[in-house]
Amino acid sequence: MAEKTWVRMVTAQTPTNIAVIKYWGKRDETLILPVNDSISVTLDPAHLCTITTVAVSPSFDQDRMWLNGKEISLSGGRYQNCLREIRARACEVEDKEKGIKIAKNDWEKLHVHVASYNNFPTAAGLASSAAGFACLVFALAKLMKAKEDNCELSAIARQGSGSACRSLFGGFVKWIMGKAEDGSDSLAVQLVDEKHWDELVIIIAVVSSRQKETSSTTGMRDSVETSLLLQHRAKEVVPKRIKQMEEAIKNRDFGSFAQLTCADSNQFHAVCLDTCPPIFYMNDTSHRIISCVEKWNCSEGTPQVAYTFDAGPNAVLIAHNRKAATQLIQKLLFCFPPSSDADLNSYVIGDKSILKDAGIEDIMDVEALPPPPEIKGCPEMQRRCELFHLYETW
Ligand code: DP6
Repeated sequence: MAEKTWVRMVTAQTPTNIAVIKYWGKRDETLILPVNDSISVTLDPAHLCTITTVAVSPSFDQDRMWLNGKEISLSGGRYQNCLREIRARACEVEDKEKGIKIAKNDWEKLHVHVASYNNFPTAAGLASSAAGFACLVFALAKLMKAKEDNCELSAIARQGSGSACRSLFGGFVKWIMGKAEDGSDSLAVQLVDEKHWDELVIIIAVVSSRQKETSSTTGMRDSVETSLLLQHRAKEVVPKRIKQMEEAIKNRDFGSFAQLTCADSNQFHAVCLDTCPPIFYMNDTSHRIISCVEKWNCSEGTPQVAYTFDAGPNAVLIAHNRKAATQLIQKLLFCFPPSSDADLNSYVIGDKSILKDAGIEDIMDVEALPPPPEIKGCPEMQRRCELFHLYETW
């Protein structure tokens, strides 16, 4: 290492993902190894993603991190595990123009600074740890010229937050639970890319912007310790469902896809109720949304929309196609009308062109979100979520 003045920087952008077959329960808390496989769909990074810049310089005297502009501690085990694993894979870096030469062994002495932002309103109450850890690991790997592919990186991101491992790919992604005690085979693989089933439209109805009362980590620990339904689900139900879901995705069979997605979300929340003390993530509005979708699907004779809820009351609604998404918007606006003083700019976010199809012209005038900043070293993240809608006012 020559000069003390240089700074090497890399910026990456990583989308978040939504599980259609849920991960709930760990068999190893430190390595973050799950009790069952899971499958997710990756959202459009333009609407929901984390943007992270990592920097290294000989002038930095400690590792530091800022999240949405506020400094946070990196001393937690999950951050430390990710940093240690990536450092162990760091390679030599040379940039003659900037006078940078970092030998493989130098990485152990060098410190990093990390600045991370979410491109969606923090008030939306949507999970960000998946995109956050995936982005941190991806950006650090690029900074340190680690040679690992995204599958191998997913096993590191997993140690930050389980669901993060699925954010290293676009399209539909499977987290294979693995068998090895050291977790080396617990990683994510891409099932199909985003082009495979590009008719799907995802709409997120934000029911509450409040922080969840029971974190996923605490909730799933309690479920593992107390829920018999969790044991049954992991052993008997999920292995079959994973196979059926893979088939449904491969064949673009929306009927089976919707049935499996809704059933798995409902079983996950049943496990939460079966936990001692019981965990309530959904609220009355969530239940109203489920009823509305179930009635509509039933009256059409074939599913139009699938719903799924994570560790909170917000609904992720996956529409079969644009026509179904348009009808869904109309139904949501009818059942949950915005109050007259609602700020429509924050009420509806994402691809607003679909509102025109729904006959809602006024909102079309609202300015689109500013484009994300220019990204260097960005992974080729594929689009999936065409729409992200906020229903803040009910
Ligand atoms: C309900 O990945 O947030 O969203 O591994 O403890 O960080 P930790 O948990 P986290 O759990 C996500 C749970 C879920 C379902 C899912 O994404 O599969």
